[in-house]
Amino acid sequence: VLGVAALVAVALGTPTPSARADEHCPWVGSTRPRAERVAQLMERMTTADRVRMVSGIGLEAAPFGGVIPVNARLCIPALELADGPAGVANGFADVTQLPAPIAAAATWDPDLVERYGEIIGREARGKGIDVNLGPTVNIVRDPRWGRTFETYGEDPYLSGRMGVAYVEGVQGQGTMAMVKHYAVYNQETNRNVAVGDAVVSERALREVYLPHFDVIVDEAAPASVMCSYATVNGEHACQNPLLLETLKSEWAFPGFVTSDWYAAQSVDAAAAGLDVEMPAGFSLGTPLEQALARGAFPRLRLDDMVRRILTQMFRFGMFDGPDPGQQAAMVTSAVHAGIARDVAAQATVLLKNDDAVLPLDSSTVDSVAVIGAAAGPGALTRGGGSSQVDPPYVVTPLEGIAERAQASAVAVEYAADGPDAVALAAQSDVAVVFAALHETELADLSTIDLAEEVDRLIAAVAAVNPRTIVVLNTGSPVTMPWVDEVAAVIEAWYPGQEYGSAIASVLFGDVDPGGRLPVTFPRSLDDVPASGPEHWPGTDRGVEYAEGVFVGYRWYDARGVDPLFPFGAGLSYTTFAFDDLRVRSEGATATVEVNVSNIGARAGSEVAQLYVGYPDRSDAPPRQLRGFERVELEPGETARVTFRLDEGAFARWDEQAHDWMVDPGDYRIMVGSSSADLPLEARLHLP
Ligand code: BGC
Repeated sequence: VLGVAALVAVALGTPTPSARADEHCPWVGSTRPRAERVAQLMERMTTADRVRMVSGIGLEAAPFGGVIPVNARLCIPALELADGPAGVANGFADVTQLPAPIAAAATWDPDLVERYGEIIGREARGKGIDVNLGPTVNIVRDPRWGRTFETYGEDPYLSGRMGVAYVEGVQGQGTMAMVKHYAVYNQETNRNVAVGDAVVSERALREVYLPHFDVIVDEAAPASVMCSYATVNGEHACQNPLLLETLKSEWAFPGFVTSDWYAAQSVDAAAAGLDVEMPAGFSLGTPLEQALARGAFPRLRLDDMVRRILTQMFRFGMFDGPDPGQQAAMVTSAVHAGIARDVAAQATVLLKNDDAVLPLDSSTVDSVAVIGAAAGPGALTRGGGSSQVDPPYVVTPLEGIAERAQASAVAVEYAADGPDAVALAAQSDVAVVFAALHETELADLSTIDLAEEVDRLIAAVAAVNPRTIVVLNTGSPVTMPWVDEVAAVIEAWYPGQEYGSAIASVLFGDVDPGGRLPVTFPRSLDDVPASGPEHWPGTDRGVEYAEGVFVGYRWYDARGVDPLFPFGAGLSYTTFAFDDLRVRSEGATATVEVNVSNIGARAGSEVAQLYVGYPDRSDAPPRQLRGFERVELEPGETARVTFRLDEGAFARWDEQAHDWMVDPGDYRIMVGSSSADLPLEARLHLP
């Protein structure tokens, strides 16, 4: 009788069948080794059962982004998927809206990003979501990409560290992570159509677009990888043998590959290595069944697909007990909001601070003019598209500043724009102008300029108040024609629901602005690596990745082009010094040590960054990030920071050998506070 009740419950859509180690489904709740349980279950699966497991049920999956259906007869629970990398998305309520991933990357703090991932993993579990569709780790090849805000920036090393931290955070809470989008997905224009073909060298693939996927797969063991909308060298990513063999054979990824939504284009995708089609079985439903019937699709491959999915479902305990999650559960909390606020504050990048106009000092500042619609109703706490999280509330900058100012008896007045705003700025001790730029999936930006009226407003305010502070509320780099006229510039990104409290804590100096840029801010679009239309967004001959490995700071460094603000840059309210660099090599690995000291008068945080330059190679980037460490220091305090460099830190991809090579010679080891400020350098000779 019990068995029947459980089956009925399952058929009615209860997320998980109750754990019953019985005759009927002995793999449920059993303590046998995972592989044995999978084999036991698969023995009982018909071809139809197998085919049903490799694609989603389509749009009825809502509110989930995708669902692999329940199989009541075999006690297989539904596998429920939801976005995404900035919190639980897809319209779920009572969840935490975290800062955008680009902000998470700007913290340069993997421990904090692991906390960020933990919140998402815990909230997803609470909602009954089994798979989180994140992190997004594509490289920002061009600042116009509409999803720049959703990534960890332009550098594969930083993206890898952040991706590992995120996946460990999510999966540590019992939720599967799906690393996306594999790979070379760098623009929205022509996405998922062949004309968007990325023509990219093997070396750029290996050195820029793939290495962080390798690191994340290797270190964090994500349950799934999502293949992308990109076409790469003539073959769609979801059926690209080179990409999928690299992932599954070379890196031995044991999880399942899921298509981005509508990205599976034929049964050939499954033959090439795709395991699950989302959101429905357009290619891996009936067409797969027909191919199997004709003997045109290898059954062993289908078995492998199902085995990969089931193995992860067993690994994440989905056959060990009922899913306690509830779609309507209240999963956000004050603790989660507190972490959202910490990340937003630590992500805040102070780009310019003339005459220490910041932090606001209540002994000299009596009145603050808060200016711009973006300080109030126009504040952008998130980017648009599938990663968009509905917040329980938003603290606007105006609200946050007004509240914080009260504690210091500073008067705050607000004006949105126009002559009122300029008049208010003229009569206030300090003017803080908020400037926002909306960015969203499905659309690339056509320019990286702020709206003309916003640039005009900033210039007008700066003309009447020498203590003008600009807060940028963008997901990606923007130009700053007024930069020399203003006293301070802050990049706040899309900071999530706690925007106002975080920005107020930085402006008033309760928190040191801990952020460093994960993307280069160019002076203009003329300077970006992909400057011609054939490079971005491409022509009918595809998109030429002619810059090769020279992406982001690698480009500006090699060309000697001065960016507006370089990769890794960001100021603190205190001052740091680097000294005593020591490099010790042990075979092809090395240990690097350096002192970082807070020589200023306030506590603060610095990010020690280590870059490696190859020996005499004109075809290699002058320097590449190979290590970083964030340190919090009291005034007068010194920390000894240690970096360990393995062989990979010195390797380059050789297109003749189709393999990594470490050249003998003298490598440059450079340490400092940004890609353009590296006061210490040592040589390391590798035989
Ligand atoms: C996006 C993915 C997302 C999926 C499901 C696609 O359009 O590219 O990042 O996970 O939709 O919402």
